[in-house]
Amino acid sequence: MISALKRGSGKKSKKCCMTNKITRTVAGSLLRLMPRFAFPRLNAFLFRMQGYGVHPSARIFSTARILGDITVTIGESTFIGHEALIMGGESSITIGKNCDISSRVSIVSGTHETDMAGDRSAGKGIGKDIVIDDGVWIGFGALILPGVTIGRKAVIGAGSVVTRDIPPFTICAGNPCRPVKRWNPGTNSFDPPA
Ligand SMILES: CC(C)(COP(=O)(O)OP(=O)(O)OC[C@H]1O[C@@H](n2cnc3c(N)ncnc32)[C@H](O)[C@@H]1OP(=O)(O)O)[C@@H](O)C(=O)NCCC(=O)NCCS
Repeated sequence: MISALKRGSGKKSKKCCMTNKITRTVAGSLLRLMPRFAFPRLNAFLFRMQGYGVHPSARIFSTARILGDITVTIGESTFIGHEALIMGGESSITIGKNCDISSRVSIVSGTHETDMAGDRSAGKGIGKDIVIDDGVWIGFGALILPGVTIGRKAVIGAGSVVTRDIPPFTICAGNPCRPVKRWNPGTNSFDPPA
């Protein structure tokens, strides 16, 4: 897995920060001009120009969005589909190598402390890191919530809502997302969940 790049981290001169901001803005504007289903490697380069830790062999459709003050790492040969949304604040989202993140998947690391004493229920904003391990496949429209880890080569069914950690080598689905099948390496087939 490649090392993380955090936007805006480290001590930098004012001139350097301004140059970075301009680079990010130009890269973001170019992404919006790119065709929807073409040049996924060039798009990955433009996301890298925006300061995200995207491996050069990753492929990302131009309509995918990364928003917020997050550290994002996207590994080797990983694919991110049409209108996928990766967002949060003060946290990291790590996607391993050889992952397939289907279209309209949302990966959201930001949340709030609940505050019943104050005027609003959404209290202090917080971020909880998300880890998606190597070889994971996430189906169309799934929602990955703050703080979860999805184990290696797990499969997440279309439209699922992932609220808890997902074991490796399992097929999981539903809301809340739970294992429906578990790979048995002895027989190279699937068993019902334990
Ligand atoms: C998760 C998935 C891969 C499982 O496929 P599968 O191994 O053939 O699973 P099955 O069809 O045998 O289903 C097993 C059980 O899980 C349930 N299930 C499967 N997918 C589900 C989903 N997305 N949401 C809720 N339940 C689901 C089935 O209803 C079944 O439950 P049952 O045994 O009570 O009837 C598949 O259903 C899926 O969601 N594929 C993603 C499609 C997609 O996103 N395409 C976009 C391009 S990548």
